[in-house]
Amino acid sequence: MKTSPLSEGFGIEVTDIDLSAPLDDAAFGALRKAWFDSGVMVVRDQALTPDAQIAFARRFGDLAIHVMDQFLLPGHPEILVLSNRKRPDGTPEGFEDAGRYWHSDISYEERPALGSQLYAVEIPPEGGDTMFQDMVRAWETLPDDLKQRIEGRRALHSYTRNHKKNETQEGGRPAISAAQGARLTDVVHPIVRTVEDTGRKALYVNPGFTWAIEGMDEAEGRALLDALFAHSRDRAFRYVHKWRPGDLLCWDNRTVMHHATMYDPAYIRHMHRTTIRGPRPV
Ligand SMILES: [Fe+2]
Repeated sequence: MKTSPLSEGFGIEVTDIDLSAPLDDAAFGALRKAWFDSGVMVVRDQALTPDAQIAFARRFGDLAIHVMDQFLLPGHPEILVLSNRKRPDGTPEGFEDAGRYWHSDISYEERPALGSQLYAVEIPPEGGDTMFQDMVRAWETLPDDLKQRIEGRRALHSYTRNHKKNETQEGGRPAISAAQGARLTDVVHPIVRTVEDTGRKALYVNPGFTWAIEGMDEAEGRALLDALFAHSRDRAFRYVHKWRPGDLLCWDNRTVMHHATMYDPAYIRHMHRTTIRGPRPV
């Protein structure tokens, strides 16, 4: 296995490794450390069946099953399909417009995602990049007055509010069924979390799912969140991933937030995501 930096800021590229066969504990440990030290890790040139992708993801922990269950891969509910391909009956094979806003995966759950692993099955010749922000740097570079204002505070995360907002802006989003809605209760998480593996602190709020600050007046909380979001989007700590076929892109949702971008819908973009559930943020 060879590693090299992805960008000046953060991220690591891994080559010369085959994840379709089981890794021994030493190789797995090295890969795990490389990932969590870097926030974003791309493993190039993989050929992964759904079973192989799931088996690799499981070594990191329990897998989350996404609430939008119409987009789970049939027979493999651990895989969320992100795709603009249509079935013969015209229904979408996958979640087409997922994540086109800054967010951390499933931060609206009690035990949000530790990591997400997205496998490029088919990609357009250009566009459809995935952007990342380093939220450890966002915390470290946060002005002192903002640090003081969020000290010890928690924020509310919600999927349904985000879904409603996007419905209004873009239209045509798949509706949330009653059963799906029953799973989606709002949760609160600390605004600054400590990452278990490294002990580093990271800002843990995102424009996609974070809506209010617990115990703070609504307008004041909103203004404070907007200031945190503006700081978090600084391009000084951004990495933009340009996909290659066979990429398995892994990101640590505790320490980065991400944003999908548009592409020409004349092309197919078809991806398989596995999501590793983490502990309750502290
Ligand atoms: Fe996402």
